Amino acid sequence: MQDDDKRLAAEAAVAEVRDGMLVGLGTGSTVRFAIEALGRRAAAGLGIMAVATSIDSAAKAAAVGIAVRNFADVARVDLTIDGADEIDHRLAAIKGAGGAMLREKIVAAASTRMVVIADASKRVAAIGAAKLPVEVLPFARSFVTARLTALGAAVTDRDGTTDNGNIVLDARFASLPDARALAATLDATPGVLGHGLFLTEVDAAYIADDGVVTRLERGGASG
Ligand code: 5RP
Repeated sequence: MQDDDKRLAAEAAVAEVRDGMLVGLGTGSTVRFAIEALGRRAAAGLGIMAVATSIDSAAKAAAVGIAVRNFADVARVDLTIDGADEIDHRLAAIKGAGGAMLREKIVAAASTRMVVIADASKRVAAIGAAKLPVEVLPFARSFVTARLTALGAAVTDRDGTTDNGNIVLDARFASLPDARALAATLDATPGVLGHGLFLTEVDAAYIADDGVVTRLERGGASG
């Protein structure tokens, strides 16, 4: 059921893709459905190329026949399709449960349009209950942990490293009254390379709830 909704949201976003586009591919189980849908459209003749926000998504895209470019050679992306862990009606999102938030934010920033795809479990009145992933230079682990703790977070170290060779600290806040201030503080903390607060990047969201897809647009329109 949840997978059906992920697939429906993904297919709705993939319908936005036009011939000749360079498409940004996010990361995660919902994006997997988008990659599969895009692969079907590419096999049917749609001429697109993609950049990926993770090694995993690049491999999945290549496996379905999508030509994947190295993002290091790319400055602009037409449309990026990505998942989220939480998204609210203002299109503020928390991302990064899959650990790809640094590359995801870079690709989102390079994109003319960035759309989130999600099942209804991700839709919240206001972001903040999900743990906030923070990508950290390993050298700065203890320093950043102390800074996050001082900001009121309960911090856990995630096992393993990101595609960039860094670590992830998951910061859980009892509440998130001022996400913009927190994002600014994190952006200004040496050793923090990225975090999962996406407050301005998302242009639209396709959210599927029990088979019905709703599109939310930044600025208010929906359909
Ligand atoms: C990875 C992400 C994912 O897009 C987010 O965690 C949602 O994943 P899923 O679709 O598997 O629930 O931000 O860094």
